[in-house]
Amino acid sequence: MSDAAPEDPLALVGSWLAPRDVATTTMTLSTIGLDGYPSARTVLVSAYDGRRVHFHTDARSRKAAELAAVPRATATVVWPEAGRQLVLTGDVGVVTAEEAWVAYAARTRYLQVLAWVNDHQLAALPDGERRARWAAFERDHGEGALDAPETWVGFAIDPVRVLFWQGATDAPSNRLAYERRADGSWTLERWPG
Ligand SMILES: Cc1cc2nc3c(=O)[nH]c(=O)nc-3n(C[C@H](O)[C@H](O)[C@H](O)COP(=O)(O)O)c2cc1C
Repeated sequence: MSDAAPEDPLALVGSWLAPRDVATTTMTLSTIGLDGYPSARTVLVSAYDGRRVHFHTDARSRKAAELAAVPRATATVVWPEAGRQLVLTGDVGVVTAEEAWVAYAARTRYLQVLAWVNDHQLAALPDGERRARWAAFERDHGEGALDAPETWVGFAIDPVRVLFWQGATDAPSNRLAYERRADGSWTLERWPG
């Protein structure tokens, strides 16, 4: 990590989440489980709007229920080959219908179909039946463009804390730890580890 650190971390988040990487970049999304235990899973980073990190999911999912109860989350993105880790914690809001539609349209056909068919009822069926339902959906809908199902929902994390971890093979790893003040400016500390 160079000695120069920006006062505001948001542009640095943008340069780490370079646009070409968004939509193929994954993050570990940690929420607070309804039982109080941490709840984590991998999701795609759908977009970064210069302030908030967006992701999309099924409105009937566990994470959606957890975020409805406590709208706070941490996103952890790791780039092992670059020796980088970004940890971003913040308040979570639902994105606009337009933003959700754009993200759905950008998904692969496979993920678009998945958003339509993969519900609890399907998951409980034997493999052969699940495959048959998938094939029937494909047959019924052909190659035509799909609209997002009503269960498609997007969320965005508005950061209050951002940690940039930079590793090295010939020097100590180093973190830039930012915390947002009430007035919107940021405090910065350097941490080991
Ligand atoms: C590489 C990868 C990417 C994934 N991307 C998403 C995603 O963008 N949205 C999503 O809802 N689930 C995604 N999943 C599935 C989630 O990890 C998770 O199993 C699912 O969303 C249900 O999570 P929940 O029960 O905690 O709500 C992805 C899984 C993997 C392995």
